[in-house]
Amino acid sequence: MTAPKIVVLAGSIRSGSINEKLAAVAAEALRDAGAEVSHISLKDYPLPIYNGDLQSAEGIPDAAKALVDLFVAQQGAFVVSPEYNASFTPLLKNTFDWMSRVTLEGKPPLPAFKTKAFALGAVSGGAMGGYRGLTQLRAYMELGLGALVLPEMVAVGNAGEAFTPEGGLANPRTAGFLKSVVGGLVEHAGRFA
Ligand SMILES: Cc1cc2nc3c(=O)[nH]c(=O)nc-3n(C[C@H](O)[C@H](O)[C@H](O)COP(=O)(O)O)c2cc1C
Repeated sequence: MTAPKIVVLAGSIRSGSINEKLAAVAAEALRDAGAEVSHISLKDYPLPIYNGDLQSAEGIPDAAKALVDLFVAQQGAFVVSPEYNASFTPLLKNTFDWMSRVTLEGKPPLPAFKTKAFALGAVSGGAMGGYRGLTQLRAYMELGLGALVLPEMVAVGNAGEAFTPEGGLANPRTAGFLKSVVGGLVEHAGRFA
């Protein structure tokens, strides 16, 4: 089987982001599972807040087009988002909203989000590990973007104790769960390869 291409990103660009830490763990686990991984930071794709007037006047920003080109070339994506007030971050929504305005050959098939499998993850200081935010992200991605999102979501709570000094997941059960989700993502992404 060809190694599926999988993009990994976090919906936080804060220095020291705990969600970026989980994204790094997921990227490594995906490589171990045989995927060809592009681990990106949204820092490298700065976008203004979406405004229809801005799109009419200036078109879609190059960063959104570059992200769509990158996503189109992938068969899978692992998206990690902080929980903000029981939802996901405005950075992630703004980025995906801009990407959703890019069409292929004038048609609106949401090319960045179709024909690939998504897995979702979150880390938070609370016990629920951002799970509430992930339910919102799932609804947005499935209903709004037409994405295929795997049922299992990796919500890592008690962030203060969640990572080893080397950056791995401290709890072996959590690490095992992440491994199984990553295995499922590689398998599903492989169907699009
Ligand atoms: C506007 C805002 C809302 C937040 N809401 C929640 C929340 O609903 N649940 C939660 O567990 N943490 C919440 N937090 C705390 C974040 O989980 C915490 O700041 C986390 O470190 C952000 O992720 P990052 O480190 O990857 O940037 C919130 C933080 C901010 C700034």
